[in-house]
Amino acid sequence: MCGIVGIVGTQPVAGRLVDALKRLEYRGYDSAGVATIHEGALDRRRAEGKLFNLERRLADEPLAGNIGIAHTRWATHGVPNETNAHPHFVDGVAVVHNGIIENFSEIRDELLADGASFKSQTDTEVVAQLLAKYTREGLGHRDAMLKMLRRVTGAYALVVMFKDDPDTLMGALSGPPLAVGYGKGEMFIGSDAIALSPFTNEITYLVDGDCVVINRKGAEIMDHNGNRVERPRQITQAAAFLVDKGNHRHFMEKEIHEQPEVISHALSHYIDFTSGTVKVDTAIDFSAVRSLAISACGTAYLAGLTGKYWFERYARLPVEIDVASEFRYREMPLSPDQAALFISQSGETADTLASLRYCKAEGLKIGAVVNVKESTIARESDAVFPILAGPEIGVASTKAFTCQLAVLAALSIAAGRERGTISAAEETALVKALMEMPRIMTRVLNSIQPQIESLSRDLSRYKDVLYLGRGTSYPLALEGALKLKEISYIHAEGYAAGELKHGPIALIDENMPVIVIAPHDRFFEKTVSNMQEVAARGGKIIFITDEKGAAASKLPTMATIVLPMVEEIISPMIYALPIQMIAYYTAVFMGTDVDQPRNLAKSVTVE
Ligand code: F6R
Repeated sequence: MCGIVGIVGTQPVAGRLVDALKRLEYRGYDSAGVATIHEGALDRRRAEGKLFNLERRLADEPLAGNIGIAHTRWATHGVPNETNAHPHFVDGVAVVHNGIIENFSEIRDELLADGASFKSQTDTEVVAQLLAKYTREGLGHRDAMLKMLRRVTGAYALVVMFKDDPDTLMGALSGPPLAVGYGKGEMFIGSDAIALSPFTNEITYLVDGDCVVINRKGAEIMDHNGNRVERPRQITQAAAFLVDKGNHRHFMEKEIHEQPEVISHALSHYIDFTSGTVKVDTAIDFSAVRSLAISACGTAYLAGLTGKYWFERYARLPVEIDVASEFRYREMPLSPDQAALFISQSGETADTLASLRYCKAEGLKIGAVVNVKESTIARESDAVFPILAGPEIGVASTKAFTCQLAVLAALSIAAGRERGTISAAEETALVKALMEMPRIMTRVLNSIQPQIESLSRDLSRYKDVLYLGRGTSYPLALEGALKLKEISYIHAEGYAAGELKHGPIALIDENMPVIVIAPHDRFFEKTVSNMQEVAARGGKIIFITDEKGAAASKLPTMATIVLPMVEEIISPMIYALPIQMIAYYTAVFMGTDVDQPRNLAKSVTVE
């Protein structure tokens, strides 16, 4: 994820900005840049790749100036090159941005029609363009900023600098974090307390909807209408930690909310946004393989189980899938005309690695869907498919799960194209659905939280919970149950909805909430019949569906969570959000150690 730093100082800032960017390296990035104002001129250095490339540029051509902004970019819109690297300049306005401006293409079209010319492929540039336009039209910087904030939608943390005001930086946020740091005669702004830790330990975390103006004397915080708001200052221990929770209570909460951004980043790696096709560079020739073996553990296994539905449906490729601890000992007959896929956030899980080695010994081509690109599983594979989720600190996997799903969806479409089982038009439609996903995720995260919090308060009083789903909602039912039990310690089970009457129905009574995951898809009617069986036995239903599904079912529920109508291929990623939030808030009400639940480890390197 992108990192932001800004300094209004009394000494040169370029070197200090780069030092602060180094502290943000953990977030992941693929280009970086720094801009300053000196003697009335705005100047910048940017470089693709690691920070030492930027340092080399600065050594060759130093930047003077006591005020500046800097950025590490993690590409979402536009390839990671120098042109797309931040800061972006338009007519004396400099902008750095973390997040996604969701209505950027609409604004861009409008500005183009107005005669603007764009230099980059980024969504960020519309912010600089709007600010330049509003100041040209006569607005002061502050009013231009507030007007721009009312025009853009999406998730953003922004820091802005105007050439003709070398004493002021402005910031704003809606989603990604931003913190203000207080120094002696100097002020700082950055993505988190860690970025600011070389300068100060006295900080204020801004909250969504805040806009801040900082100068050497202090900070003025206001809402998007310009009304003043107060935020507490705090002393942080950030220097002691590798990563920071920002405004969130737990890493898990932070990671849930990061999903639109990280998915967008992951998709930019696997999708050509211009042609609307998937771009997957792989050593595995899907057109030549007879079948695919998938193996993984826990949540990663459930991502793989969802992948099975997609590979079989879109690529007509038979998939054998098993949890790695069973797979490795099954003595499964394999042959070199098969390929194998291993899914692992850490890339170090012992059972998954052992399954990989078994398949390798049998002569199969090996693919790895991993978050940690330097991991053992990645190193031992023929093809590595990074999920690009950034560091996942919460033990319960959230953003890694949805990024694994996004990558598997893209891979299955690529396999379908190679095998000639989907047409170009089908590929375009599937890719379009994937591209819409980050925007829909933001909408869902913003809309369902109050309802889920109140539902979770009720759920925390129960001892058992059942989850049901069909099709790709079945692995999600398993994931919901896994997430709830691992962090809240409430006993939970996931079932294929059609299995209910083959046993678990005996458990249904008024003490058993049943969470039914049922988008209005081709399985909806069948799942509703299963829901009826629950209702008839006094079971309490929590219905997670979409607008059509909510209108179609007349059954009484304990809660109905209504999500937007979405294409079938993205429903697992969208429906994962309420599932994760139910587990999270229930655990918060139970008072458990959410980020480090008892008995669990993030990387399981033993059998
Ligand atoms: C559950 C969870 C675990 C992991 C499993 C595999 O929230 O995080 O079930 O998914 O331990 O770990 P990786 O993906 O590192 O192989």
